[in-house]
Amino acid sequence: MTDIKKGLAGVTVDETAVSKVNPETNSLLYRGYPVQELAATQPFEAVAYLLWNGELPDAAQLAALRQVERQHRALTDDVRAAIDLLPTAAHPMDEVRTAVSVIGARETAGIANVMDAVGTPEENLERSIRLWAELPAAVAYGQRRRRGEELIEPRDDLDYAANFLWMTFGEEADPVVVDAFNRSMTLYAEHSFNASTFTARVIASTLSDLYSAVVGAIGALKGPLHGGANEAVLHVFTEIGSAENVGPWLDTALAEKRKIMGFGHRVYKRGDSRVPTMKAALDTLVAHYDRPDVAALYDALEAQFVERKGIYPNLDYPSGPAYDLMGFDTLTFTPLFVAARVTGWTAHIREQQASNALIRPLSAYVGPDERHVEGYIADAADVEAQERAEEAVG
Ligand code: COA
Repeated sequence: MTDIKKGLAGVTVDETAVSKVNPETNSLLYRGYPVQELAATQPFEAVAYLLWNGELPDAAQLAALRQVERQHRALTDDVRAAIDLLPTAAHPMDEVRTAVSVIGARETAGIANVMDAVGTPEENLERSIRLWAELPAAVAYGQRRRRGEELIEPRDDLDYAANFLWMTFGEEADPVVVDAFNRSMTLYAEHSFNASTFTARVIASTLSDLYSAVVGAIGALKGPLHGGANEAVLHVFTEIGSAENVGPWLDTALAEKRKIMGFGHRVYKRGDSRVPTMKAALDTLVAHYDRPDVAALYDALEAQFVERKGIYPNLDYPSGPAYDLMGFDTLTFTPLFVAARVTGWTAHIREQQASNALIRPLSAYVGPDERHVEGYIADAADVEAQERAEEAVG
């Protein structure tokens, strides 16, 4: 009997130097640095640099990255036109996926030979930076379009996180909000061989281009068992309403064997290493917006679910209500995750390209035994193939 590892659970498929998830010590390291230290001390631009280059930038390197990021912040006409073609009721993950397709078609236009689409390591670093720089405008425009609001042009005097909030809301965010948003971007940036990153690596392994790999990754991230969970957490909060409803709501949900979004993880079984940092950021937002009701509902659901099932929250649990307090539409939450994770995806795509093997697993066939189409008469080629097969079997 073939030993099948359903969902590739527990299977180590390759090496990576980008990040290390250790469920035993409940830790997550980006290129060796604990993620909570990075979240507390670094602008997101520096974390992106670290993921791509392996080291934190010095002042000049950070300034150079910021300069390129600022040059590519504005929504381009082609991306805007493509988003405008979609219905306003389209899911914003579909808008972002479309935006990356358009950017990819533009950036690889003129490459006549498919063998050249993969690009050099240097080209792919530049592509990664430009793609990362362009995405916030597409996410911000998507939310504004749904609300019937005008496009906001980027500001050159603001860093990545502050400018993202500016383009979304058209006003300068309070430093408390910028800080919480910056931390969330760092926490979402990278998480080893999760489903979307693995998807990106599978696509990169065929020597397809970086943009195709990111488009595939966005498709994987949309699912509620993965990135879509941060959106789904808010639907759960809205359904429950307030802290005192948690008990009866949970009774029904568990009786119906529902999965509670924002809890559980394939790798972490005793809690997600990123949750305490994001929960602390959520607490600052709760205080800033004076919304103790949000904290009460959060705490009640966590306490009762952990007590009854022994399953702990993942990063999407605190980030969902945090993004809600900041003013993002619930549907925009997973695109925010894309804007952050594009750094990790592209770091992995470049790592895959640097040491590539086509990813092509096997499957155990369980369909019907060999059978033949009625009336088919074997020709000479079939007979020869049959003879060769028999010879091979011996
Ligand atoms: N709510 C209720 N039960 C859950 C649960 C949740 N969020 N997460 C896991 N479980 C239960 C399963 O029902 C299963 O119970 P059973 O053995 O009685 O059937 C058991 O725990 C194992 O779960 P399973 O889904 O097989 O584990 P997994 O490793 O494949 O799942 C997730 C990991 C993330 C897919 C799963 O925890 C989940 O669906 N969580 C909700 C979605 C989410 O928040 N995703 C974001 C992840 S970062």
